[in-house]
Amino acid sequence: MNKKALITGVTGQDGAYLSDLLLEKGYEVHGIKRRTSLINTSRIDHLFENKSLSNNRFFLHYGDMTDSTNLVRLINNIKPDEIYNLAAMSHVHVSFDLPEYVANVDGLGTLRILEAIRLLNLETKVYQASTSELYGRIQESPQTEKTPFYPRSPYGVAKIYAYWITKNYREAYKIFASNGILFNHESPLRGETFVTRKITIGIAKIVNGKETVLKIGNLNAKRDWGHAKDYVLAMWKILQHEKPDDFVIATGNTTSIREFIIKAFQVLDIKIEFHGEGINEVGKITHVPNKFKTKIKVGQNVIEVDEKYFRPTEVDLLIGDPTKAKRELNWSLNYDLDDLIQEMVESDYKLFSGEL
Ligand code: NAP
Ligand code: GDD
Repeated sequence: MNKKALITGVTGQDGAYLSDLLLEKGYEVHGIKRRTSLINTSRIDHLFENKSLSNNRFFLHYGDMTDSTNLVRLINNIKPDEIYNLAAMSHVHVSFDLPEYVANVDGLGTLRILEAIRLLNLETKVYQASTSELYGRIQESPQTEKTPFYPRSPYGVAKIYAYWITKNYREAYKIFASNGILFNHESPLRGETFVTRKITIGIAKIVNGKETVLKIGNLNAKRDWGHAKDYVLAMWKILQHEKPDDFVIATGNTTSIREFIIKAFQVLDIKIEFHGEGINEVGKITHVPNKFKTKIKVGQNVIEVDEKYFRPTEVDLLIGDPTKAKRELNWSLNYDLDDLIQEMVESDYKLFSGEL
């Protein structure tokens, strides 16, 4: 019998990569998608369009993290061996505008999943998508499983409830429930308003003459960025571990937004330099290969700062220590930051030049 997995948030970046991974491993995969007025399944359409990829083992169900009747019914019908709780309103900046909704979906949504397992008396294992945003105003570097939390946004605060309720249900009811404390992970499937994808799309538009400048927020923030493909493997490994536990998943390196932009332009052999300070800082082109000379010029400002992207409270620096995951899960990275940036820039370049 194939193992059964249920993925909440299956239409998101991680849901798509995790579906591919679990199908490859022979699972029957059930995903929960919410009803939207436009179809929101572009990241998983390949599993329907090419049935050989999913082998008829991929199923979608309507659902919502705010509706416990729906979650209980689905979990009772499917009786999954493993639940990956990835559904969330995952945008930190937007969470300042939607604090109550985020508490409901990201915080109470996790409780609803755990409570369904408890009430139905199931042996289901649960993976909770915890986050490096829990560390927020960091108390030590690098951050480990033992570093105290200090969230800096309604998103981080909702996720801290989810983290602790997962731990509490593990201790109180012996549910196999684990937290993956994942640091930022990106890919060509990353949502378009997260900074890495915004940058790679912005560059693709600029070199294809569709826009002249990319407006960005805090250039000084630093993140520990990995590739989503490596991180969904860690999720699976966390649920295959002999006991439920919590793990930091990170690369151990950190890079500023400014450095990410420089590296992303370099993929296309374009050089930029930053001048000025604060909201007056600009990124200026210093070298352009012949191929792009009709679209951009040396001396052109391609990056400008817009304070509307600043957050009321910021997380300045994240850098994780994945030693425990490496040791206990035998998890390792297949991609480094340069591989990731190259894949993202090339993918968006093709998208906006019409080569895809
Ligand atoms: P994502 O691309 O934003 O995907 C989020 C998913 O949640 C989407 O499928 C979304 O559906 C779904 N969703 C949102 N609200 C929902 C609701 N009320 N009911 C049901 N589904 C809902 O996020 P991601 O990058 O894949 O991240 C996956 C999880 O890991 C999230 O919980 C995120 O907070 C967490 N996380 C992410 C990172 C990272 O760097 N990517 C790091 C640490 C933790 P729609 O497609 O309809 O919007
Ligand atoms: N989104 C965005 N847009 N961020 C910008 C911009 C911009 O124009 N300019 C600068 N930034 C800065 C943000 O202020 C932040 O410091 C950093 O870039 C990263 O922002 P995001 O890419 O939006 O990601 P995040 O770190 O806030 O949150 C992501 O990672 C978390 C894990 O640490 C999300 O995926 C969360 O769901 C996840 O938990």
